[in-house]
Amino acid sequence: MNPGPPMALLAELTHRCPLACPYCSNPVDLVRRSAELPTEAWVSVLREAAEIGVLHVHFSGGEPASRRDLEALVAVAAEAGLYTNLITSGVGLTEVRIQALAERGLDHLQLSVQAPEPALADRISGYRDALAQKRAVAAWTNRAGMALTVNAVMHRANLGLLPQTIDMAVELGAQRLEVAHVQYHGWALRNRGALLPTRAQADAARAIVDEARSRLSGILQTDYVPPDHFAQFPKPCMGGWGQVGMTITPEGKVLPCHAAETIPHLTFEAVGSRPLGEIWADSAAFNAYRGTDWMSETCRACPRREIDFGGCRCQALAHAGDAAATDPACERSPMNAEFRQRVAAEPQSAFVYRRFSTG
Ligand code: SF4
Ligand code: FES
Repeated sequence: MNPGPPMALLAELTHRCPLACPYCSNPVDLVRRSAELPTEAWVSVLREAAEIGVLHVHFSGGEPASRRDLEALVAVAAEAGLYTNLITSGVGLTEVRIQALAERGLDHLQLSVQAPEPALADRISGYRDALAQKRAVAAWTNRAGMALTVNAVMHRANLGLLPQTIDMAVELGAQRLEVAHVQYHGWALRNRGALLPTRAQADAARAIVDEARSRLSGILQTDYVPPDHFAQFPKPCMGGWGQVGMTITPEGKVLPCHAAETIPHLTFEAVGSRPLGEIWADSAAFNAYRGTDWMSETCRACPRREIDFGGCRCQALAHAGDAAATDPACERSPMNAEFRQRVAAEPQSAFVYRRFSTG
């Protein structure tokens, strides 16, 4: 299958982060600072990405502001013609840094918020005064004239404050809000017992988002990522494996999705080993689940096979033990009843924080 060029690159500059959120999607085995790609390697990656047709780069982590070369990398990406987005907790940013990023061509800033109340925001992030810093970052971003999205990852501990979270996004001057239920990969899977919402919470969240969408039409665009375990069908994870974007880890592995390393039989090529376009088009990992030939009989016979592409490969591996299985979140999966029962029976637990600030 000829995949066409990738549209987006998720550049995970570092796993270092001052926050300790229990829902973090980074892997359990984090990459140390000494193993991170140096500036020159990222410069080559960004230029190569633009040459092969990538349109957007999302600088992510960890906390990408932990890298002192962030401003330089944004400048390279902007010069190469890429649309640049910074996915950040806001911690580590100052007004001077935000202004410098805007001057170097940063187009958009995506700010995570944990809760609209200071004490709860601190409890979820494991960081003191997180909310005050985020408010300041939003104001500096507005002043610098950059587009702002607020990203609110929702779970049992903060869903009760969803209306206030939406109000806060408006107050912060965001044009867009992402209300996303936790995806249970990487570190978040360890915290499933602490984070899983109830069915009533999930149903209420959908209704609150629908109401806000119509009330705030023209003011705030709200995107909603529902929780998998209450859905009828899975999401088209990554827009289909190897079809839309690629992720580059802090040490330079090129992945079809940020959690792909959980699939043990796949081998991932590194930047610099051969051209990025060849890795995208020809590598075994990117081709493993492209198209429909690899699909289970259930998916191959399903009219939704090119809508959700069989769901999430990493979730299939985690729950069915087979990355090529129908996503167990799908009601047509033979594993669906067991998946739902297992999730419903998950014992409640306390947060296990993800701490990795110094590397
Ligand atoms: Fe999607 Fe496969 Fe479920 Fe059909 S059977 S809805 S293709 S996951
Ligand atoms: Fe890897 Fe869904 S997270 S395919």
